[in-house]
Amino acid sequence: MLSRRYRGKLSVWAALCVLVLCWYYIYPGYRLPSDKDIVEEVLRQGEAWQKNQTGIDLYRKLLTECCDPRRMFAVTKENSPLGKVLWYDGEFYHSHTVNNDTYPLFVQDNPLQLPLKKCAVVGNGGILRHSKCGKDIDQADFIMRCNLPPLSKEYVEDVGTRSHLVTANPSIIEKRFQNLLLSRKAFVDSMKVYGSSYIYMPAFSMKPGTDPSLRAYYALADTSSNLTMLFANPEFLRTVGKFWKARSVHARRLSTGLFLVSLALGLCEEVTAYGFWPFSVGLDEQPVSHHYYDNILPYKWFHAMPEEFVQLWHLHKSGTLRMRVGRCPPQEGGRPQRHRIVSRHKSGEGYRKITAALKVPMSTVVSSIHEWKKFGNTRTLPRAGRPSGEKGLSQGGDQEPDGHFVRAPAYLCRERRTFQKEQPSLQQSTNQACMVEWPDGSQLLSKRHMAAHLEFAKMHLKDSQTMRNKILWSDETKIELFGVNA
Ligand SMILES: *[C@@H]1O[C@H](CO)[C@@H](O)[C@H](O)[C@H]1NC(C)=O
Ligand SMILES: *[C@@H]1O[C@H](CO)[C@@H](O)[C@H](O)[C@H]1NC(C)=O
Ligand SMILES: *[C@@H]1O[C@H](CO)[C@@H](O)[C@H](O)[C@H]1NC(C)=O
Repeated sequence: MLSRRYRGKLSVWAALCVLVLCWYYIYPGYRLPSDKDIVEEVLRQGEAWQKNQTGIDLYRKLLTECCDPRRMFAVTKENSPLGKVLWYDGEFYHSHTVNNDTYPLFVQDNPLQLPLKKCAVVGNGGILRHSKCGKDIDQADFIMRCNLPPLSKEYVEDVGTRSHLVTANPSIIEKRFQNLLLSRKAFVDSMKVYGSSYIYMPAFSMKPGTDPSLRAYYALADTSSNLTMLFANPEFLRTVGKFWKARSVHARRLSTGLFLVSLALGLCEEVTAYGFWPFSVGLDEQPVSHHYYDNILPYKWFHAMPEEFVQLWHLHKSGTLRMRVGRCPPQEGGRPQRHRIVSRHKSGEGYRKITAALKVPMSTVVSSIHEWKKFGNTRTLPRAGRPSGEKGLSQGGDQEPDGHFVRAPAYLCRERRTFQKEQPSLQQSTNQACMVEWPDGSQLLSKRHMAAHLEFAKMHLKDSQTMRNKILWSDETKIELFGVNA
């Protein structure tokens, strides 16, 4: 009796120790710069960016060597013939052998027209809200999005309308579309917004994800949809995970976003990433919602993003890819026009003359010159604080489309920038729907989950298959909560 109690206590302590060890592995404190440092670094860098062909070529080469995205990113008839064993990358000892049921579902070969020129990878971070990046994104030649994001009217200005490849987590099929066991119409209808994109599903990552993925395939195929289903190749997911692990993105599941960026770096001539900002406060010190379309937070203690962000930021700084973390510069007309106005003003022309010569409204001339006077020399101008009138300026965005852009560097480059107590604290938040969804079997957290799975398996060995599926499903939902995607 007594000894049983001690044994019970012992196992509690053992469990606690394991927990603490896991905690330190996941939050190794020393490895990451603090949020504040990261944000300050981003502010220091400002809008400056220069393409670096050496870096682009280098990363394409590295990714081709490790992961061969051209050939391997999807499951194809060519790389997965009948009888091929696909090992689930998010499970322990689970595999699917390609058979007569699944083989016909695969595309023949990599369907993408390579090389892709300008690619946009769009994360779902709240930083996109009010970013006005829609046009910028839509101008790319190939647009990748994460986890069936909403593209309805109210978001168009910020996220654009076009897409070419959209990922879909199997769990979304379960949660949003009743696993496609009832009507499939809602699913098919909601997919129309993605035009004739590729839907990229990790069908062979977690065992419970396979059936919903296949059902999604049939739902699209049966309605002769213009969308093409591609199944993510688990081997590719695993090798990409290893690639980043070697570059100090450890101990966590890789995010869908990082997978897509890796894919883009391997396939595209130029990559721009939008909506990647894993902090709860934006560059303008305003709170940032978790997604651009909602603010449902993931499990608090699971933060993979800052680490990934740091890696992406390194790539941005070296010119290998471009990260858009603030507002996008206004389209055609804004900046060049302002330059013309200012240069005429400098050479002594009056407002009226400039208005007539450039055929622009007087208000634009006035605001351009006003802004120039105020922030003209922004890059070297140390500014201790924001003048009270500055807020009003930003509202003149319609008249002077360049306003935001001009203002941004001034603010970005402000010296002695500190985060004071009264400012919102910079908590890490995982505000990218794209993040942490696809498990990587090689990482500790997965091991933890594997242990959990094993435990589940033991506990429910006697249950019926349906019962087990249900439990595994809810377990996957938990995993997914870490990454959030609904
Ligand atoms: C360009 O990229 C290469 C490879 O990543 C790097 O070594 C080099 O420093 C980069 N150049 C600049 C100017 O950042
Ligand atoms: C699969 O289909 C092919 C031809 O349709 C057939 O020859 C083969 O025996 C089938 N294999 C199995 C395992 O059913
Ligand atoms: C597929 O694309 C064609 C041409 O763009 C369009 O006319 C048709 O309505 C689309 N079909 C569906 C199901 O969306």
